[in-house]
Amino acid sequence: MNETHDPSVLHGDESGVGTITPAEYRELVARLSKLARAYYVLDAPLVSDEAYDRLYRTVESVETRNPSWTLPDSPTRRIGGPPLAGFRKARHPAPLLSLANVFDNDGLVAFDRRIGLAGPSPAIARYTVEPKLDGLTLALLYADGRLVRAATRGDGEIGEEVTAQATTIRTIPLALSTGTTGASDVPRFLMIRGEVTLPLDAFARLNEARDASGEANYQNPRNAAAGSVRQLDPRVTAGRALRFTAYTATVLTLDAAVSALPLEQLAFEADVSGLVVSDPISQDAVSRVFDRLRPSGVMSGPFSTHWEALLTMREWGFRTNPHNRECVDLDETVAVLAGLQDLRATWDEETDGLVVKVNDLATQESLGSVAKDPRWAVAYKVAVSEVVVTRLLEIAVQIGRTGAVTPLAVLEPVRLGGVTVSSATLHNDDQVRALDLRIGDWVRVQRAGGVIPAILGVDGEGSRRDGQETEWAFPAACPACDGPIVRDGDEAVARCTNSSCPAQRSARVRHFAGRSAVDIAGLGGNWIDRLISSGLIANAADLYHLALPDLLAIDGQGMGEVLARKLCNAIDRTRQQTSLARFLFGLGIRHVGSETAELLAPLVGSLDSLCHRLRTDRYEFLGSLGAQMLETKGVGPVVAQSVNDALSNPSMLELVERFSAGGMSPVPAAQSPKPAEEGPLAGKTFVLTGTMAETRDAIAALVGASGGKVAEAVSGATSFVVAGDKPGGSKIKGAAKHSVPVIDEATLRSML
Ligand code: IVH
Repeated sequence: MNETHDPSVLHGDESGVGTITPAEYRELVARLSKLARAYYVLDAPLVSDEAYDRLYRTVESVETRNPSWTLPDSPTRRIGGPPLAGFRKARHPAPLLSLANVFDNDGLVAFDRRIGLAGPSPAIARYTVEPKLDGLTLALLYADGRLVRAATRGDGEIGEEVTAQATTIRTIPLALSTGTTGASDVPRFLMIRGEVTLPLDAFARLNEARDASGEANYQNPRNAAAGSVRQLDPRVTAGRALRFTAYTATVLTLDAAVSALPLEQLAFEADVSGLVVSDPISQDAVSRVFDRLRPSGVMSGPFSTHWEALLTMREWGFRTNPHNRECVDLDETVAVLAGLQDLRATWDEETDGLVVKVNDLATQESLGSVAKDPRWAVAYKVAVSEVVVTRLLEIAVQIGRTGAVTPLAVLEPVRLGGVTVSSATLHNDDQVRALDLRIGDWVRVQRAGGVIPAILGVDGEGSRRDGQETEWAFPAACPACDGPIVRDGDEAVARCTNSSCPAQRSARVRHFAGRSAVDIAGLGGNWIDRLISSGLIANAADLYHLALPDLLAIDGQGMGEVLARKLCNAIDRTRQQTSLARFLFGLGIRHVGSETAELLAPLVGSLDSLCHRLRTDRYEFLGSLGAQMLETKGVGPVVAQSVNDALSNPSMLELVERFSAGGMSPVPAAQSPKPAEEGPLAGKTFVLTGTMAETRDAIAALVGASGGKVAEAVSGATSFVVAGDKPGGSKIKGAAKHSVPVIDEATLRSML
């Protein structure tokens, strides 16, 4: 470094700094670095943005006037150099292991047992828990406290060198700070591993900008982070608000057994103060040095637990995750995992789980690894469901087809898991009381099992109430028919007992016309309500007696002609095209779900024979049907009893005859379904994803007819994943994981 200083150079400098010495310049850089670290790494700015910018510009202008003074770790150097011709390969000094997964607490307990540690040691916490960041892994090499190389993970052994790109990321220290502990505490050679992520707000801004310039959006923050680092032009990387979070530190030392070079020569090559790290010649020198380094045993390292390593990395200037936790024992680990799991949805970057690591490094070392996974760490991957807070506007009640009266929370619309939610189920009165809900409360809402939103509780346990909230009482009479609401003994469910209640009728018709039953396109709940209230229908069978003029003349505002014709056609189509199983399911017999209906259909035969036998020899028929049901695998006595009760009711005969008279003619079930061992797809299991030319049911039936099976989730037992339009990411990932071939719909058809 040229320390001769020409004071005239800085005279009249527009930055207003006046005369400055190299020592003063170094002080300015040190101060700027400290402010930058407080801002980017610690998230705790020490000065205003303006003050930071002013100092930044001062340092920049000193450097422009005295290029030879410029320190390689000056914060102004993070702007990215000229584009590279390509990525160089970089061999990691120690393999970058991955992690085995567990999917629930049982898995965690099994992991804990496998490790077989003696009881909790009071001196050393047993585990650490960290967020598993979903980004791009980087391995950073430091020599004498300076960043000398950054590389992607690649296959774990060899990655791509991305030093020039990495130096633009503010949370990657170019030089490690030694703080109060002194430089001697920083090991000579270090590998730091961590994850580069793009925080969610930066991801959103990046995609907006790409939209504006007509570029394709990045699919998710992980792709965006990876794409931003793997840019040959480091200036592009510099423009992205990337973040690096460190999670392991490996101290490296010379392994005499692998070194052919004398120590002095290595020391010379590793004299990194002169290296320009993005320069290939320097990278060759870095590789020569690091190729001869191996992880030093923990005993010789500066920390004895992983937790200490995390704290130390923070002192050195890395961002470590603020949600990392140290756990004394397995119980605390389980509790911490549950707590962090609830918080995950609120974090500003994406995670794909949590990581549990054995804290004691000597234990880690003795456990070692199997294949590519360490035995001392595990990824805890339990799906999170997002929780949001919104206002409870009202509690309405819904009347089901069996008369069950269930409260329904009416919510101020809120975004949840990518959709807008405006209501949530409340199972019964007991639940409303248990949650102590009042109208006007702020409530926490979660997607339970990913579909129907549920209320978890009142936000802040009621501390946000202002006295305007009102209590809610379960209605004593049915709001639809004014009939009595009865709650039998211990039954949690309250019911409207009036079977001609219009709300019950409507729910029954909705069920019949719904997607998983007969599927009458275009017949929504509102029209069903109006058809009932105007007396045109009382049940689903009446739909088959409607004529176009009826629809045009519905009380109040009639249906428009186009819509009415469409509905007539839709109803007509179902006359011939409904399977008997779907028709039986549509009848809404208690305990008869769609799968049970599939089992019942072959026993019932056809709608005609059902009508005929109920009319001519009802009891004999029901007796033999009951016996056959009990012989059928998957049908139990409860179902059999319920079917018997429903079919022996004279109103059922009336109903099915009315269907028949209206021309309803479901497709009879094959008497004996083809055994699975026959057909071209015998023994094959398919998983469907994405939109196909036909419904899933239709495709499943085709596959079934050829002897194959359709399953919901991809596993080792899956033969093929069939991908339609917009296939689901998890199924495609699952296919890759289990090496299951992915085929398209046309290929499937050719196999049938
Ligand atoms: S520890 C030997 N900790 O998850 C220890 N990994 O398959 C291995 N990851 O791509 C890694 N956050 O880069 C660890 N806090 C964390 C992590 C983490 C994200 C990534 C890791 C790898 C994958 C594991």
